[in-house]
Amino acid sequence: MSLADARWIHGATAPLPPGPPYPCVELDAWSGASFRMPPGDPRLADLHEGGPAPSPPLDNLAGLVAAWQTHPEWLDFLDPAAPNHADKLLERALYLRWWGEHLPATGRVLDLGGGCGRFAAWLLGQGLDVEVVDADLRSLWRALQHAVGRPGRVDLHWTTAERLPPLAPVDAVVAAEVLCYVEDPAAALAQVRRVLKPGGVLLCSVEARWGWAAALDAASGTLDALLGDGVVHVPGDRWVRTFTEPDLRALLADFEILACVPTHYIPSGPFELAGGGLDLDGVLAWEARLRERPETAHLNRAWTAVARRAV
Ligand SMILES: C[S@@+](CC[C@H](N)C(=O)[O-])C[C@H]1O[C@@H](n2cnc3c(N)ncnc32)[C@H](O)[C@@H]1O
Repeated sequence: MSLADARWIHGATAPLPPGPPYPCVELDAWSGASFRMPPGDPRLADLHEGGPAPSPPLDNLAGLVAAWQTHPEWLDFLDPAAPNHADKLLERALYLRWWGEHLPATGRVLDLGGGCGRFAAWLLGQGLDVEVVDADLRSLWRALQHAVGRPGRVDLHWTTAERLPPLAPVDAVVAAEVLCYVEDPAAALAQVRRVLKPGGVLLCSVEARWGWAAALDAASGTLDALLGDGVVHVPGDRWVRTFTEPDLRALLADFEILACVPTHYIPSGPFELAGGGLDLDGVLAWEARLRERPETAHLNRAWTAVARRAV
């Protein structure tokens, strides 16, 4: 499925420019549009309407649907007025310090679990073509809104990571903070391998095993997950599989791992308050120090990896 299959919920659907992918500079009429498209994973239709999660990992999506009703301003954080706008862009810059040199100068990128378009907007700004996949349709509406007017070309797909559409091969896959939410990450990785060109790179991040519980957004009542199986589950609200370094390396076993780095000690991490007010260079310098100290090394909130699909 593609934007080609999308129909506006209110009013007549505006025509699309030639595509897919669609030139963002010709998508003005679609900016802010709410649309339906057939979901690649049929379970998403009911979830979108507020239905219960059919399995615990999809509780994360049920929580997202509810959150769009209760505090949309925190979810659409590319809006400069969002309370978390600056923090989310700082985190993006932190990831791009590890990923930037591996991204192609031209070509096609899959933004898997792209959300409201934090990385898609940046990639489109570089003139790249971006396929945005997300399991939450409301996030895709915002991703399109933030894509409009940028130099690249875009297409959108409403589906889960385990059921990627039949895409032409891409040069790179960005999977920022998503593989920790999917039901079957190994199946998702098999799909990534299917769509990634030989020699193409996967740039991914996941929630880390130990750092999350001391972060400001830790859910109350989840401490048992810290010393238990590392799966944080709040029914109807969230579900996260946290990763150790061996967990992530095992997941990426079919790839050549170029980097696997503990990150986010400060942004969204346990040292967020103490490290408040730092700019990117300050965060990088402090995170390097926290990574070196045995007392703090394991308290990263996220793992970030660069992995290459074998030629
Ligand atoms: C924490 S957000 C990250 C969004 C974006 N990558 C970023 O860094 O800003 C996680 C995203 O993963 C999506 N997601 C959750 N489960 C998914 C699944 N099974 N397949 C695809 N996307 C999923 C959510 O809808 C959400 O947009």
